[in-house]
Amino acid sequence: MPKVYLAPMAGITDRVYRRLCFEQGCDGATTEMVSAQGYLTAPPDRNAYRFLLARFPEEGPLAVQIFGSEPLFLAQAAARLTELGSFSSIDLNMGCPAQKVVGGQSGSALMKDPELAAEIVRQVKRATPLPVTVKMRLGWDAEHRNAVAFARALEQAGADMLTVHGRTRQQQYAGKADWDMIGRVKRAVSIPVIANGDITDGKTALDALKTTGCDGVAIGRAALGNPWIFAEIKAALAGESYSPPPFSQVIDTALRQAREMAEWKGERSALLEMRKHFAWYTAGRRNSAQVRTRVNLASSFEEVEALLRTLE
Ligand SMILES: Cc1cc2nc3c(=O)[nH]c(=O)nc-3n(C[C@H](O)[C@H](O)[C@H](O)COP(=O)(O)O)c2cc1C
Repeated sequence: MPKVYLAPMAGITDRVYRRLCFEQGCDGATTEMVSAQGYLTAPPDRNAYRFLLARFPEEGPLAVQIFGSEPLFLAQAAARLTELGSFSSIDLNMGCPAQKVVGGQSGSALMKDPELAAEIVRQVKRATPLPVTVKMRLGWDAEHRNAVAFARALEQAGADMLTVHGRTRQQQYAGKADWDMIGRVKRAVSIPVIANGDITDGKTALDALKTTGCDGVAIGRAALGNPWIFAEIKAALAGESYSPPPFSQVIDTALRQAREMAEWKGERSALLEMRKHFAWYTAGRRNSAQVRTRVNLASSFEEVEALLRTLE
């Protein structure tokens, strides 16, 4: 059966949200991305890393994603993260398009330097007994769609699995993901390849698997406010029908996420962080825009609950 993964999303794929996805049948998830250099130089009790690296024991397989451009730092970070004993694999970010990341020659900028990318994989492999996977794109821009050669170089360097987002860095998140090209990457290597980009429901998951021949799919934006997408795709893979949860259950889940977040990070931070999640959970419902404006001004969990319960 093909695997259905939650794609890494900075600011979103924390342990509370991941657990909701695992409960719906997600086969594996990734932490938010962590700077290798930042992690190595931070004091061990720094809050940001405590939160970024936290996991619940009942989560399924969890990769920790690191970014950087210095093979030595990435290898040292991988070794230290392995010692925590929380992660089942190390994922290297070679896909992030953000200026502050590519400016440091990290993320998708590594696709312009396949030798350095391969050296990173080799050194990280030597530093950890865990599988080492890579999240990549199709290339830097339309003139440099080098994903096939890049994937081969990473496989030779020892990468254990690749997740390919079917866009170039230049495209950021615009245009349509090119699943045909993901299929070319899949056929060029013998390690597992996971297709990513624009998979939004059971049907598109089946289409993407058929077009690419990949070993699984990774779901990003379509999982926002919708952890049930994993149950939906699992049902489609099994040839079973799927019915979405009633809206009352959607609101229960949003409130549960908020409560668990509040227990973890305090009510104030939780309400701030949850604003975007509330917007995703309630998108498209009647009066949701007005309710969201008031939710964003609310200062207690009880107030938010009362507001969300007015939606139908
Ligand atoms: C808000 C947001 C944050 C993201 N953060 C990361 C990240 O930290 N690491 C990473 O490899 N990809 C990151 N991505 C990219 C996603 O993992 C995924 O490749 C992309 O959204 C395409 O898949 P989708 O069409 O299913 O959303 C992020 C995407 C979004 C929308």
